[in-house]
Amino acid sequence: MTASVLVVDDEETARMAVSEFLRIKGYEVFEAGTLADARQVINQDGADIIILDVRLPDGYGPHLLTETAMLPQRPQVIIVTAHGEVSMAVEAMKNGAQDFMEKPVDLLELEKSVKRAAEIIAMRRELNHLRGKASLDKFIVGKTKAMHDMIELARRASEASVSTLITGPTGTGKEVLARFIHENGPRAHKPFIDVNCPAIQSTMFESELFGHESGAFTGATHKRTGLMEVAQDGVLFLDEISSMPMDLQAKFLRALEERAIRRVGGTNLIPVDVQVIAASNRNLKEMIAHHEFREDLYYRLKVVDLDLPSLAERKVDIPDLVGYYLQFFNQKLGKNVLDVTPKAMEAMVNFNWPGNIRELRNAMERAVLLCDEAVIDLGHLPRDITTA
Ligand SMILES: Nc1ncnc2c1ncn2[C@@H]1O[C@H](COP(=O)(O)OP(=O)(O)OP(=O)(O)O)[C@@H](O)[C@H]1O
Ligand SMILES: [Mg+2]
Repeated sequence: MTASVLVVDDEETARMAVSEFLRIKGYEVFEAGTLADARQVINQDGADIIILDVRLPDGYGPHLLTETAMLPQRPQVIIVTAHGEVSMAVEAMKNGAQDFMEKPVDLLELEKSVKRAAEIIAMRRELNHLRGKASLDKFIVGKTKAMHDMIELARRASEASVSTLITGPTGTGKEVLARFIHENGPRAHKPFIDVNCPAIQSTMFESELFGHESGAFTGATHKRTGLMEVAQDGVLFLDEISSMPMDLQAKFLRALEERAIRRVGGTNLIPVDVQVIAASNRNLKEMIAHHEFREDLYYRLKVVDLDLPSLAERKVDIPDLVGYYLQFFNQKLGKNVLDVTPKAMEAMVNFNWPGNIRELRNAMERAVLLCDEAVIDLGHLPRDITTA
């Protein structure tokens, strides 16, 4: 899907030159000569990218920045100023504009800038799509007091937007809890960027997080926006943060303290406002003792500390989870399994679930799939559960 561009300028010749050029480059282009027209296009057609003149007959162009900032599909804005109005552009950049250029616009520069904006839009679409898929699972709190306390604390962490460290064994729900925090806080309509730390090559970590300028190192042919910048105003979820290299931990901590980053090969400090949620199933304290994790970063991350219990420690919640997944997979698989026999439920409550909720979820998916009767019985469960 290509990005749509709205060109807002009251000077018709300038507007048409830009519009025609972008159409030829394959963009879907809308035009507006006034703020009022621009608002109408935004409401009717939506615009991924806005090229915005500062002085318009009915007002100050950058007002659109604040008006669109709250939209879930917030457009990327490129400001165009008359010669000598750079201070206005700087002000607009502070308010979230992505880029600015002086008139007369250099079309090739403009194209680069539009392309960058389109990349951000495409990335955001992809992320929203993934987020939609991943948030299918609700966070089931259950009856355990520890879980109720935890969800209460998680709510506060979302409301206050503070750094949060989520720990717990594999499959206990660290990622769903992180998404819960995002979805229940003021950043819900801003990005949730999931960074799977173990998947990032240690030499690439810095440029993944902070981005790089073109030519910053061999192979850096294009400028790249880092994930912290992509997460702007939203949540940066660092999954399995224990695999972040030590030298990067120091740089990351500094970025958090300064609330700003420097791209690799760049000189400008770029302000970033992100809520960091980090997760780990390794014992970070032990890693600190072995000098494998920085203590200062650890304390910076755990303003709120959520330690998820294993499923074996909250067996009373198993029936709730079974009930939830019964419904969930009935719907997903188009089945109509009504219940679980007492024997099957007993076996599930007694089992130790080394893979925690993930393992229970998989067992339920399989059981619903295999079950052609009205109820799930022992025979529908994996053998290691029934023979435990
Ligand atoms: N409280 C919960 N309610 C419902 N489903 C849950 C809950 N906790 C976890 N799940 C489900 O269990 C599975 C594993 O959860 P998740 O990926 O969040 O675990 P994790 O702690 O991040 O595991 P890992 O350490 O292996 O990455 C997911 O399918 C998730 O939806
Ligand atoms: Mg996980």
